[in-house]
Amino acid sequence: MSEPAVGVREEAPRAALGCQRGAFMLPRSLAYFNCAYMGPLPKVAEGAGVEAIGRKTVPTRIVPPTDFWSTDRLRELFARLVHLDDPMRVAIQPGVSYGVATAARNLHVEAGQNIVITHEQFPGNVYSWRRMAGESGAQLRAVAPGDGADRGRSWNTRLLEAIDARTAVVSVPNVHWTDGTWFDLDQIGRRCRDVGAAFIVDATQSVGALDFDVRVVRPDALIVATYKWLLGPYSLSLAYFGPRFDDGTPLEETWIARDRSSDFQNLVDYQDAYAPGAVRYDVSERSNFFLAPIAAASLELLLEWGPTRIQEYCRVLTRDFLREAAEMGYSVEDEAWRRSHLFGLRMPTAVDLGALRDMLARRNVAASLRGTALRLSPNVYNDDEDVAALMDVLKDAVRAR
Ligand SMILES: Cc1ncc(COP(=O)(O)O)c(C=O)c1O
Repeated sequence: MSEPAVGVREEAPRAALGCQRGAFMLPRSLAYFNCAYMGPLPKVAEGAGVEAIGRKTVPTRIVPPTDFWSTDRLRELFARLVHLDDPMRVAIQPGVSYGVATAARNLHVEAGQNIVITHEQFPGNVYSWRRMAGESGAQLRAVAPGDGADRGRSWNTRLLEAIDARTAVVSVPNVHWTDGTWFDLDQIGRRCRDVGAAFIVDATQSVGALDFDVRVVRPDALIVATYKWLLGPYSLSLAYFGPRFDDGTPLEETWIARDRSSDFQNLVDYQDAYAPGAVRYDVSERSNFFLAPIAAASLELLLEWGPTRIQEYCRVLTRDFLREAAEMGYSVEDEAWRRSHLFGLRMPTAVDLGALRDMLARRNVAASLRGTALRLSPNVYNDDEDVAALMDVLKDAVRAR
């Protein structure tokens, strides 16, 4: 492991995290196991949003130029979360597709080369690569898990084997969005560096609930939407861009990302130079006065709780549940190849998925069916009562066979 970078705060060992349901507005009657779909906004983030909207009712409360730089706070908080020493390497963007398109625009691929992604990857991290492959004649390799036992391990092995001397780009998630299969990014990153491939990570389904260390994984870009595990708003994402992208071309030529843009009086003294780091990749009107305070409040909370403790909370919460479910014939990926905040529960034979969906809805248990698995994605607001409600549904589904 590399030396900690100067200025990066380590997550010191702390007492286990208790249930944080009180920090949210979730009704007691709802057992919400669907953070992989959308994270609930914590109360403090709601408060920050209401206050932010109020400010716009009297425009002088938004003070130029300072308030147009308040999104720097988001860069700082995100940098701390992923152990990045330079917050200016974080761009403020509107979604994962935008970050992936930014990366694709600044990478070169040609016929005879290949781009590696995973099978059934989230489409926001697919379409830019499909276009790139189509336009260049490069091959798009969507690596499937393969049949048989030891699915997680074999998927990882196949992924590593797909990366060869002709690989120009590898763009993968940290955990698969449908069933939570965990990809060993340390290993994948090492393989990318061996062959000189660009390494792009969409960690939307993990950052916030699973510790991510940029210094260890060393991606060229790391892209995270805020509306799931960052417990933030929709239409905002945060993306780290490393040195490979330092002289790149943004999707938009925003004026605020230019040198000396804080001098509002002289904005028509046009500047060719960009602000340093990844700021050039900010979306236009990046000083999002409504969404940024919401995202910042949630990030502060996550930093206080700590992703390692959040992950451990989910592990302990689901440990007995998974043991009991296994006794009834439900199965889950081997613990080495999944994490505890997002996993797919596979059904015992003859459990009808349609009937299961109806039972979940009737009992107000929220989770998603993805393919043949029930995707469960708990978080710190879930407690034993939620788990019991979920377990009752699983028992009834088995009885109804
Ligand atoms: C892995 C992953 N990436 C990205 C997204 C969202 O992508 P976008 O911000 O482009 O809508 C999702 C949404 O479910 C996701 O699961």
